Amino acid sequence: MQRLIPVLNSDHVPLHLISVINTLLTAAKEISHRLHQGSLAGTLGSTLDENIQGETQKKLDIVSNQLIKNMLLETNLVHAVASEEEDDVVMGNPDAKYLVAFDPLDGSSNIDINGSVGTIFTILEKPDHAAEGKELFLQTGDEQIAAGYILYGPSTMLVMTTGKGVRAYTLDHTVGEFLLTVEKLEIPKTTQEFAINMSNQRFWAEPMKHYIADLLSGSEGPRAKNFNMRWNAAMVSDVHRVLTRSGIFMYPADCKNSDKPCKLRLLYEANPMSFLVEQAGGRSSTGYERIMSLQPTDIHQRVSVIMGSKEEVDECLGYYKKIPCTRFDSP
Ligand code: F6P
Ligand code: MN
Repeated sequence: MQRLIPVLNSDHVPLHLISVINTLLTAAKEISHRLHQGSLAGTLGSTLDENIQGETQKKLDIVSNQLIKNMLLETNLVHAVASEEEDDVVMGNPDAKYLVAFDPLDGSSNIDINGSVGTIFTILEKPDHAAEGKELFLQTGDEQIAAGYILYGPSTMLVMTTGKGVRAYTLDHTVGEFLLTVEKLEIPKTTQEFAINMSNQRFWAEPMKHYIADLLSGSEGPRAKNFNMRWNAAMVSDVHRVLTRSGIFMYPADCKNSDKPCKLRLLYEANPMSFLVEQAGGRSSTGYERIMSLQPTDIHQRVSVIMGSKEEVDECLGYYKKIPCTRFDSP
């Protein structure tokens, strides 16, 4: 089984970019170790703080953020980082060209129940035009040069792309290295499995309500087949299932909280996951637009997400085309 770095070398990924990815993985190995230790490491539970998005921060959110941020900045290869747990971008080496945005610990409500969580990352280059601070990161998903996630599940896996397909690696704890375990991840075009937080049903817009109602009516409904539902409440592990065996993952806009019609963040959640899904032959949309074509206006911007098996996402998007949306504009 091949190690990560020779695989990236054979794809002609620049050496400095390989070093940035490798640094992310060094931090991920440490996070994996701490998660594995659970209560023994004394890092379970919440802090008294909230992040800029008003979410309570878990101790491991903070620890993971510090580890990734500090290690990346120490490389001197990173111009700036943006994180879910940082209000503003943090500047690094003014002469470096890489920008890294990350969600240090996605699905962190799973930490205290010993469930799967993940780290999501995306790497961009400093734009040619003069840009400073958060403006640096306001690039479309199509500008990403590498993206991926580390899933901390029963095994720790890296799933990543540099725009030449999607590979999966598994952390071999005995040698402390990520070894290539899937050469090419491809999402089957059709599926009978969907992932959505059903408790938000009454807050969804009409197209999503009708689409899910038709899935639930199964073989007796217009789709004429039964669907199964799965929801791990951690985007990394829900999308990992879709990448592994098909499915459609959705976190659509809803009217539960008018200040926050969408839950997932464009820059460090939706864009990197969309890059992986498209590279694996799937589709990713807000319901109205391709996610990776959106021009971001803020680093913590939220977006409606529908991604996964191509034909199933197209089925869902058909409802957005034919059913007028009364409560939401295109996010
Ligand atoms: O990062 C946000 C997140 O934790 C995702 O990982 C996950 O898909 C979603 O929120 C879970 O949301 P909910 O708490 O509504 O199930
Ligand atoms: Mn997250």
